[in-house]
Amino acid sequence: MAEATIIDGKAFAANLRAEIAQKVSALKEGGGPTPGLAVVLVGENPASQIYTRNKAKQTVEAGMQSFKHDLSAETSQEELLALVDKLNHDPAVHGILVQLPLPSRIDPNAVIDAIDPAKDVDGFNVTNVGRLVTGGKGMVPCTPLGCLMLLKDTLGDLKGKRALVLGRSNIVGKPMALLLLREHCTVTLAHSRTQDLAGECRRADILIAATGQPGMVRGDWIKEGATVIDVGINRIEAANGKSKLVGDVAFDEALSVAGAITPVPGGVGPMTIACLLKNTFTAACQQTGIEPESF
Ligand SMILES: NC(=O)c1ccc[n+]([C@@H]2O[C@H](COP(=O)([O-])OP(=O)(O)OC[C@H]3O[C@@H](n4cnc5c(N)ncnc54)[C@H](OP(=O)(O)O)[C@@H]3O)[C@@H](O)[C@H]2O)c1
Repeated sequence: MAEATIIDGKAFAANLRAEIAQKVSALKEGGGPTPGLAVVLVGENPASQIYTRNKAKQTVEAGMQSFKHDLSAETSQEELLALVDKLNHDPAVHGILVQLPLPSRIDPNAVIDAIDPAKDVDGFNVTNVGRLVTGGKGMVPCTPLGCLMLLKDTLGDLKGKRALVLGRSNIVGKPMALLLLREHCTVTLAHSRTQDLAGECRRADILIAATGQPGMVRGDWIKEGATVIDVGINRIEAANGKSKLVGDVAFDEALSVAGAITPVPGGVGPMTIACLLKNTFTAACQQTGIEPESF
């Protein structure tokens, strides 16, 4: 069988960002607002510092306003909630993202649920989760949204396909399963207590891996010709002693079985920020009574 097509998430995300930048420019030229995204970081987690810096940079590159709030690790839950409240009432801020994980003293759900659902560009607030479950219109979490865009670009119509989502977190697995259900896939949501995980995976036309376990999905877990989306980002030690990023799928093994697969890095990763910008543009339009689809 031919080698799998490699799904170029980096190129897709670059095109999406360029498209959003054009829409932002048209919005502003038409007298609309400059979309504004507030990114809040508490503490000095090095990975979170890189993520928030990239988010701010790409926000500005898309012609939007970036409001970055770097708070000390000692920030209390009350102080953080007070900032969220201030941002909720700031008309220049259309999207609010509080970078996770938060220090253990702070209840992440209390903070996420304090964000105005209209500004919840991460789509984690219970109101937006509820809308996703009930089929309503709301903000959709960025990583699963990015995965869905790559899947549709690769496969076209997803109707009737058998999809397996491996991992049931609130930020990736669960919303991913709901989005695929919305596309009329037959969805299985697997996790650490699933029996015969390899057998479940082997039945899937679409396999989404989001476990955080490097290389756990082996080549012989994959149905021939399946489309594989690898969400995992895991840093491991390479043979030369340096560290490298790998996904949750044994990529080299999967290449000879899958029909198409996302690489790590360069697959799902870049889609997350591009979808964050997309959600921020949508939020800015909706908050000012403009139809985002009109651009
Ligand atoms: N590309 C991006 O932008 C992006 C964004 C977010 C996350 N990620 C990456 O995606 C991965 C998952 O992230 P997450 O936040 O969803 O992780 P998480 O909250 O740790 O959830 C992991 C899920 O995988 C399941 N799991 C773990 N080990 C398993 C095993 N051996 N067999 C079967 N299921 C197993 C867990 O099952 P239980 O529920 O039963 O414990 C859980 O549902 C991580 O590598 C993360 O870095 C990437």
